[in-house]
Amino acid sequence: MADHDAERSDLVILGGGSGGYATAFRASQLGMSVTLIEADKIGGTCLHRGCIPTKALLHAAEVAESVRTASTVGVKAHLEGIDMPSMLNYQNGIVDRLYGGLMGLVRQHRITVVPGKGEFVGERTVKAASCTYTGNKAVVLATGASARTLPGIETGARVITSDEALRLDVVPQRAVVLGGGVIGVEFASIWASLGAQVTIVEALPRIIATEEPWCSKQLERAFGKRGITVMTNAKVSGAKETAHGVGVEITDGDTLEADVLLVAVGRQPRSAGLGYEEHGVRLDAEFVWTDDRLHTTADGVYAVGDLVAGPQLAHRGFQHGIFVAEDIAGLAPIPVQDHQVPRVTYTHPEVASVGFDETAARERCGQISTAVYDLAGNGRSQILQTSGGIKVIRSGTKESGGPIVGVHMVGDRISELIGEAQLAVAWEALPEEIAHFVHAHPTQNEALGEAMLAMAGTPLHTHR
Ligand code: NAI
Repeated sequence: MADHDAERSDLVILGGGSGGYATAFRASQLGMSVTLIEADKIGGTCLHRGCIPTKALLHAAEVAESVRTASTVGVKAHLEGIDMPSMLNYQNGIVDRLYGGLMGLVRQHRITVVPGKGEFVGERTVKAASCTYTGNKAVVLATGASARTLPGIETGARVITSDEALRLDVVPQRAVVLGGGVIGVEFASIWASLGAQVTIVEALPRIIATEEPWCSKQLERAFGKRGITVMTNAKVSGAKETAHGVGVEITDGDTLEADVLLVAVGRQPRSAGLGYEEHGVRLDAEFVWTDDRLHTTADGVYAVGDLVAGPQLAHRGFQHGIFVAEDIAGLAPIPVQDHQVPRVTYTHPEVASVGFDETAARERCGQISTAVYDLAGNGRSQILQTSGGIKVIRSGTKESGGPIVGVHMVGDRISELIGEAQLAVAWEALPEEIAHFVHAHPTQNEALGEAMLAMAGTPLHTHR
């Protein structure tokens, strides 16, 4: 029951990660007063335990890889070793600077921050730090997600989740990665570049199973060349820590010996024990159920970000937040479309995609056609010594079909192309329209242009 002495503001937001703080900033810009309740640090998983610190490590790993392979471009260099404490300093420095900037924005937007763990108590009210806070207009639930573990696999010094993996102050010599999803492959890539022997154990027939199968195949091949062992159709059934390592039991009876086991089997929404279900917020398989305007089943209560089933990505959370603030302000914004959310996996090589994969495109459009452009024909990619390609999917027939409905890319630095791919998909561009644009030479962007030329039936640098 809501407390009549509750502190009131237009909006009360529970959770200050990407979804929560984006809601707060946009609501403040629209003239609302905002109370933001956060148990840890504003910035959430993305800034403190996710996107930013992992990408810092991935960049450091890329530098190590460049030094190791410098002789292939005629540069004499020797990789003396990895100074993990310094690498963590570099990582923390980036997080600290961004956190400082973010807190400046919190002040600038005059957000009232309440530190403490909040609980939804119904009637647009949240209880935190022995007080109650009521949102005159709405409450927004933005409590995110946390790393899942598996029954029978206890985390400890050597059995870790990504939270601990980000803070390891030594490079493991042998690492087993349980789960070949996005987190698994990114850490596999980091550790392999830093000199570890890495084995990925994935229950499904392929790694990065949420991506187009063509991307999985390309990444698996590239990982193979890098010496990363990928075991698919393989499950981990148990793990035993010893003083010197961890024995990882595979269901086929094998045991892998390693220094660490990273458990990366997905992230579970933080929806339990926070009063949601008790006060009319319906859950659906742990996620908060919402309609396409992010309303929950409780009056005046919205949910954003990883709490809502769909791609668990920070930029989706930001967009949810902006959407909800504008919806509450009566601006009638357009709902976020999950298939239009770009996805990037920052491995070496990178994987980036937007729109539908072949199966989903076929379900949606009936007939589809595809074209693949191999980076072997792209000058800039050859200079960067990367392989991979770009796959484009259009609805209808090649050369006279409909718009581009999916773009899937693999290659180093390919993530920088996602912007153009996203515009093509979101604006439902025809391949012929993109093919007509002049792409700068020599860039990797040209490869996207070439894929569109191929799709339009006018390939320039394509071997038949
Ligand atoms: P995930 O759901 O992407 O992958 C987990 C994998 O573990 C699945 O492929 C699953 O089949 C496998 N698995 C589950 N149980 C298993 C078992 N017993 N044995 C072997 N394999 C098993 O989850 P992940 O990688 O933990 O990532 C969580 C979320 O974080 C994702 O939604 C992802 O999008 C997000 N994320 C995004 C990043 C990015 O955008 N670059 C980076 C890191 C995370």
